[in-house]
This record gives sequence, structure tokens and C-alpha cells, in this order.
Amino acid sequence: MTQTTPTATITFSDGRREAIELPVMEGSMGPDVIDTRGLGQHGLFAYDPGFVSTASCASGITYIDGDAGLLYYRGYPIEQLAEHSDFMEVASLLINGELPTASEKEAFVGTVKRHMLLHDLMSNFYRGFRRDAHPMAVMVGVVGAMSAFYRDSSDAFDPAQREVAAYRLLAKVPTIAAWSYKYNIGQPFMYPQNRFGYAENFLYMLHATPCEDYRPNPVLARALDRILVLHADHEQNASTSTVRVAGSSGANPFACIAAGIASLWGPLHGGANEATLQMLEEIGDVSRIGEYINRAKDKTDAFRLMGFGHRVYKNMDPRAAIMRQTCHEVLDELGLNDDPLFKLARKLEKIALEDEYFIQKRLYPNVDFYSGIVMRAMGIPNSMFTAIFALARTAGWIAQWQEMISVEHRIARPRQLYVGPGRRDFVPIEQRG
Ligand code: CMC
Repeated sequence: MTQTTPTATITFSDGRREAIELPVMEGSMGPDVIDTRGLGQHGLFAYDPGFVSTASCASGITYIDGDAGLLYYRGYPIEQLAEHSDFMEVASLLINGELPTASEKEAFVGTVKRHMLLHDLMSNFYRGFRRDAHPMAVMVGVVGAMSAFYRDSSDAFDPAQREVAAYRLLAKVPTIAAWSYKYNIGQPFMYPQNRFGYAENFLYMLHATPCEDYRPNPVLARALDRILVLHADHEQNASTSTVRVAGSSGANPFACIAAGIASLWGPLHGGANEATLQMLEEIGDVSRIGEYINRAKDKTDAFRLMGFGHRVYKNMDPRAAIMRQTCHEVLDELGLNDDPLFKLARKLEKIALEDEYFIQKRLYPNVDFYSGIVMRAMGIPNSMFTAIFALARTAGWIAQWQEMISVEHRIARPRQLYVGPGRRDFVPIEQRG
């Protein structure tokens, strides 16, 4: 029996155009996709601002089922990876496609460690920033500036250079992030230590000073590693799409990842973890939760409950479910259950989960609601929350950029529905007004 490729037919109610038949593509899991590439030949484009119903690429990296609350990296459920794996292994999985063997993992971790140090001249960049510069502002600049230092791994079309760039980015972004904070608080930059794991090294560079020994707390390092695993990739979100669009022109990988960091920074995306904490501080007391819930429901008020809702998950975000558990473990471990801010967070979570507006719109707490609270409990400053998201997501960005550049692709060039003025003649300035 021969299998025929399914098609979809577009018909036009005004009768001015003939029906158009379009192929339907089937993925290995998830919804089918109508291949609209041929529409241009008929003088038509698909209209989808915000890419609500658009598959911008075919990808074999991450699978999400938002209704069922599923997230898989290369086919492995996030729950299994969060429990049994670690961030280095997950980064290797995302970038290389398979879980590494013991010797592959050792080699991967060793190479990342050896690349963590920054070119010494890069420290000069920091001195050009104001002391109060936001770490994300510094990261956009310094990661982009890597292309000025590592020109031997800047050619996006050379697979060997791409591989070196991938290691450099994965390894140096934590150092760049930690140094952004050190610069803020006027402490000396701390060099990475090869004796530490990835998350430990980051905590070391963030919290240690040359004056005394510092050993990262293993419970907190493990919690941070889990945050990194949960944030490592998330399909074609805003920042990942930004990386792909930037990379589609053949731009160098450092510039592309800097573009991703810029996109991630927004409060509707990676900036939500920092915004959640700011919101909790602003609410200030359990007695004011009702007022803020009412503001979130009020369509005339721009306020939204930060850390709630998701474009894809209309069920509990599976990362949030894991983070919620980690959050409670960390608060217990650190004896912070009576801290007023964390009490407020728990109360807000409960009320929002029971509120009709949030239930009806399927707005659940997302991963950033809990990760912000966990990082705060761990003593990580609010301004570093999104930077930590960025260093985790660097693994996914690299994998997605590699996938995009290594398959046949075209420069990303969306079209538009033009709604501006029709043709008109120039009016000299003295005749205007
Ligand atoms: N508080 C109050 N109402 C909300 C919220 C919220 N946090 N999120 C969505 N809504 C309402 C929204 O007003 C709209 O109502 P209506 O249908 O009456 O107009 C409806 O729910 C659908 O919202 P939307 O803005 O059309 O949904 P979206 O898919 O475009 O946006 C979102 C998704 C995550 C940007 C949004 O839920 C939001 O702004 N959440 C707060 C910011 C946040 O926590 N972001 C982190 C997302 S998870 C990590 C990441 O991906 O980076």
C-alpha cells in the first residue's frame, strides 16, 4: 500500500482566487504542520504576529507538549534528567545529540573547564561600564565582544571553528556573568578553579574573595545545577528564535548568543525571575495579595502577576513542578520557611492556583516563579537571576544554532502585511502643515 502525503486546501470565499493545495508535514511527535512555503508563488503570505501558530523550523532537539505538560530534551523527559543527570551531561546531550559515555563526558567536562578562563584583556571591558550596570547589560556587551578576541572560532560555516566556539561560549559565559556581579560590588574578579564542577565554579566566582577560603555548599551547588538543567533549552522561544534569526545570516556565534541574551532579558521572558522577586518585594505583605490579584485581572491595568502564565504550557509547566519541590527543599534546608518574603510567595501561589481567573485562563506558576525564590534563598542577588538563566540557556542556544547552520537553511526574512499610507508625492517643507 502506498502512503500518500496529506495535503490541506485553502479556498477563498470571494471566488477571486483558485483554491491552493499545501503539503502537510508530520513530525515524530506533536502537531502536524502545514507547509506554507509555496504561498508566495500565489502572491500570498501567512499572517502570524508573535508566531502563535507558526513552526519556524524543523528541530530534533527539544519537544514540548504544553497541554500535557511534557518537556523532553532529545527524547529524554525533563524529570529523569533533573533527577539523574547534571548540567554538563545535559549540555553535551543537547549539543551532540546523545547522552555521553563516561569517557565522552570526562572529555567534555575537561574541555569546558580548560576554556573557562577569559582572555586577560577582556577584564578591561568591564572598567568601561558604570559600577551599577545591570549584569545582563554587561553580558550582552562582553559576550558580543568575544568575537573580537576569539576570531579563530568565529567562522560559522567551518564545523571545526563552530565546535571550539561552542566550548568557549559554554565555558566563558559563567565567568563573564560572575565578573559582572563582582564589578558591581567592587570585589576582585575571581578566576575559575579546575577542581570545581560547573555550578560550583560559578558559585565560587560569584561569592569567593582572595581573602579567605571558600568552598561552595554542595546542597546549593546541586540546586543551582538543577536550575541550569531545567533552563537549558526550551524549543523555539523568543531568545532561541533570536539566535537562529541572527545566525541565519552567517553572523559569528558570539554575536548570535549576545543577541539571544538581549532577547532573554525582557520581563516577559528570562527577566521574569527577577521581576517576580521585585513584585514580591513590592507586595510586601500577605494582606496586600488580594489587591495585586485584582490588579492582575484588571484589563485597564498593565500589571501582570510575574512568574505566572506561559505561551505554550496550558497545564503545570513540568519545570515549575520540579522547581517547586527544589524550592521547598532549599527553604527547609536553609531554615527559611518563616522568612516573610517566602511566606508571601507560598500564599500568592496558593491563592492564584485557586482563583477563578487564573484557573479559567490556565495561568499556572511558571519555572521562573520558583527559580527566583530558590536563588534568592541561596543568597544570589536578584540582579543575577536572569544572568543565570542566560548561562543555562547558552547550552540550548548553541545546540539550536549548530542545528540551524549545519542543515540547509535560508536567511530568515519574514514578510509583512503593509498597513501604511499608499504612494504619495513628497511635499516641500514650506508647503506642509
Ligand atoms: N497575569 C495576569 N494575566 C495574565 C498573565 C499574568 N501573568 N499572563 C497572561 N495573562 C492573561 C492575559 O491578560 C490574557 O488575557 P485575555 O485573554 O483576557 O486578554 C490571557 O491571560 C492570555 O495571555 P497572553 O498575553 O495572550 O499570553 P501569551 O502567550 O502571549 O504570553 C506570557 C505568555 C508568559 C508572556 C504571559 O503569561 C506573561 O506575561 N506572564 C508573566 C511574565 C512571565 O512570568 N514570563 C515568564 C515565562 S516562563 C519563562 C520563559 O519562557 O522565559
